[in-house]
Amino acid sequence: MGEPVIAVLAPEVIDQIAAGEVIERPASVVKELIDNAIDAGARTITVETAAGGRGLIRVTDDGCGMSARSALLALERHATSKIRSVDDLWGLGSLGFRGEALPSIASVSRMTITTRLGGELAATRIIIEASRIVSVTEAGAPAGTTIEVADLLHNLPARLKFLKGEATEASHITELIGRVAMAHPELHLRLKHNGRTSLEAPPDRDGYARAQALLGGRIAARLEAAHGEEDGVRVAAYLGAPELAQATARGVQLFVGKRPIRDRGLLHAVTMGYGELIPRGRYPIAIVHVDVPAGAVDVNVHPQKLEVRFSDATAVCAAVRHVVQAGVAAAPWRAELGHAGPIHMSALTTVAPPRLPFDGIPAT
Ligand SMILES: Nc1ncnc2c1ncn2[C@@H]1O[C@H](COP(=O)(O)OP(=O)(O)O)[C@@H](O)[C@H]1O
Ligand SMILES: [Mg+2]
Repeated sequence: MGEPVIAVLAPEVIDQIAAGEVIERPASVVKELIDNAIDAGARTITVETAAGGRGLIRVTDDGCGMSARSALLALERHATSKIRSVDDLWGLGSLGFRGEALPSIASVSRMTITTRLGGELAATRIIIEASRIVSVTEAGAPAGTTIEVADLLHNLPARLKFLKGEATEASHITELIGRVAMAHPELHLRLKHNGRTSLEAPPDRDGYARAQALLGGRIAARLEAAHGEEDGVRVAAYLGAPELAQATARGVQLFVGKRPIRDRGLLHAVTMGYGELIPRGRYPIAIVHVDVPAGAVDVNVHPQKLEVRFSDATAVCAAVRHVVQAGVAAAPWRAELGHAGPIHMSALTTVAPPRLPFDGIPAT
């Protein structure tokens, strides 16, 4: 065998490979664009999709916007306004930090950025197709940013095959927006699929009011708020009554520093906090926001930032378990159940599982 030829990959190939990690489906694009809008200080964010996001995703924000120069720079790989050194990750105040989302998305779609920096007269519009800048023009637009992503993965047919049908992809987007709304009660969030509003969340007073608004009247009436702090770990939990328990963990929403995350340890801590009120194998409706001191969590462990690593996971789980336990003990619905040990399965099975706002279309 002759010597294999080594070559440095072309930049657009590197971007497509990076996109493979971050852009799993249309909802991943929506997540990256919403994170950017929140980091830009937006108060109102509108997400519109066509064909479940496979055809078009449009995210409009009223954040700080970008100058023409910044918008072009933002398309470069590893270009970010959010960190300057790795140490900045330990006190991170932003959702983004990699500087990879825009170039990754641009490498696998036809993207249009329209953005106007507050105080500037004209907006800039940049059209990029599969990493190639097609045009940069002036445009009229309100202050803020609109990013349109059309024909996602059109140039990677092998990846496109892995996407599900429109309804399923739309349901992933709806679920994601529900989680973002849960984490940011001060935001006004709007979601439209094919021109039809599927979620409208005007600003709420606080996390509890937001949880009640998003989960709907029936669950809201049976949702108890619990707050606590232990070893510097702050926990705010909104706990559904045990009869709302479900066979899947979809009703447990976990947030760390306002990031929606998945974490088996924390999930277990929540179910432990309910003790015997919820039978094994079932999960409560519970919204749990956790905040840890700067330096106690590493957010740079998962390409989509869906997982985090705690410096002291045991302490974080203990704090969550204790706050949930205390909340459950104080809840009015706890008193209804009396104090005579576990409730009986027969009492539970007569109650249909709750419908969350994003239910209806099975997620896969
Ligand atoms: N909606 C937006 N409003 C204002 N600035 C934005 C917006 N989206 C992206 N940017 C700018 O573009 C940069 C690159 O974005 P991105 O590729 O997502 O990387 P990151 O978010 O990790 O910095 C950001 O750091 C930010 O300065
Ligand atoms: Mg980003």
